[in-house]
Amino acid sequence: MGVYHITGGKKLCGQLKVGGGKNAILPILASVVLNGSESVIHNCPNIADTLISIEMLQSIGCKVKYEGDTLIVDSSTADNWNVPAHLVREMRSSFIFLGGVLSRFGKCNISYPGGCALGARSIDLHIMALRKLGATIIEEHGFIYCSAEKLIGTRIYLGKPSVGATENIMLSAVFAEGETIIDNAAREPEIQDLEKFLNGMGAKIAGAGTSRIRIKGVEKLHRVEHTVMPDRIVAGTFLTAAAITGGNLRLTHINPEHLYPITSKLSEAGCAIRMERDSAYLEAPTKIRSIELITNPHPGFPTDMQPQFTALLSLSDGVSIIKETVFESRNRHIAELKRMGADISLTDGSTFIAKGIRKLKGAPVDAMDLRGGVALILAGLVAEGTTTVYNSNYIERGYEKIEDSLNAIGASVVFEK
Ligand code: UD1
Repeated sequence: MGVYHITGGKKLCGQLKVGGGKNAILPILASVVLNGSESVIHNCPNIADTLISIEMLQSIGCKVKYEGDTLIVDSSTADNWNVPAHLVREMRSSFIFLGGVLSRFGKCNISYPGGCALGARSIDLHIMALRKLGATIIEEHGFIYCSAEKLIGTRIYLGKPSVGATENIMLSAVFAEGETIIDNAAREPEIQDLEKFLNGMGAKIAGAGTSRIRIKGVEKLHRVEHTVMPDRIVAGTFLTAAAITGGNLRLTHINPEHLYPITSKLSEAGCAIRMERDSAYLEAPTKIRSIELITNPHPGFPTDMQPQFTALLSLSDGVSIIKETVFESRNRHIAELKRMGADISLTDGSTFIAKGIRKLKGAPVDAMDLRGGVALILAGLVAEGTTTVYNSNYIERGYEKIEDSLNAIGASVVFEK
């Protein structure tokens, strides 16, 4: 596991290009098995989670080539419906392979997923939906054995708009007989990107981005070429990095519409923001204003930006209230921020009160999950002295050489493997 050494106190100023979205590429890679043909995918982020997905694809028999930021996958040779447990344990989104592999082979054996510890993160909605589509599922010794001679389209209501469950159903229903309707579907932009990818290979899906998605089963799919949407969380992280250091930043290759829930909160905290067709410009205020922040499924404020904003608001001019409503215990960054001098109290596992302080102080801290870890890097950028962030492997799951991006706009971050 690597370590980041950050010397704080440098204003971040300049321009950065944003790459493809982690939460978009992962379900796409779980889908490539469906067409039994070639998928050419541009703008792939070169992050640890992409590399794990590639290993999973190779383990089920796909051929994968990585050329620059383009991935070429040939799934015609795929012949294995046992998804290796050690890879599934690495990240939660690998569970979406279940839908792709089941649709292609009529069976799939997969272990319970791993990933960042943010609370219970159960899979009951995925299992309920697959059973409704007609799959037989046996859960035994931490494994899920799933089979279906034929999946039949049906109407599925999700008690919570789960992103992963919505995606798993989309993949499972692509070949299902008749029509499948998902009600209370997740509306995240990454689901629209997945719809675009699947329709590009011949699927008949409509409604992604709304809470009702309709999937008409088809018999066959074909070759597809696709460009992955920009990563809205990486974009939000960089904007917050500029904001916390009192700097200014232009981000290019973004979709401003996707960023709106984040940029509107940055504006409320006092940042001046200008959006253009595919870029955004942020200028930080001299002092961040305190705000109330509540996470919610899209188009609400994204839970994946909560830790970065918690770091930002620890330096505001007053008292901020932060409510995490998506995950029950996404709070492991709080204790680490407190080591740096932040004045944050937890009224329960998911409501935090951040009293703005004048300065954070550099300290050795542990990344405990991906976004919580990056929040510590942001805190380090503005802290007095040096901050050492341990457990880089969490951060590398979702950020491509973050030290290079931050140093390019004036930070002083040294990565030690
Ligand atoms: C995805 C994102 C993750 C983001 C999250 C919420 C990917 C690869 N990951 O994760 O970055 O933080 O959406 O925006 O896209 N739940 C259940 N039962 C289920 C499924 C989910 O109770 O069967 C609950 C979860 O415990 C959680 C909530 O629903 O409290 C949202 O989870 P979900 O939307 O499924 O998140 P992921 O798809 O895992």
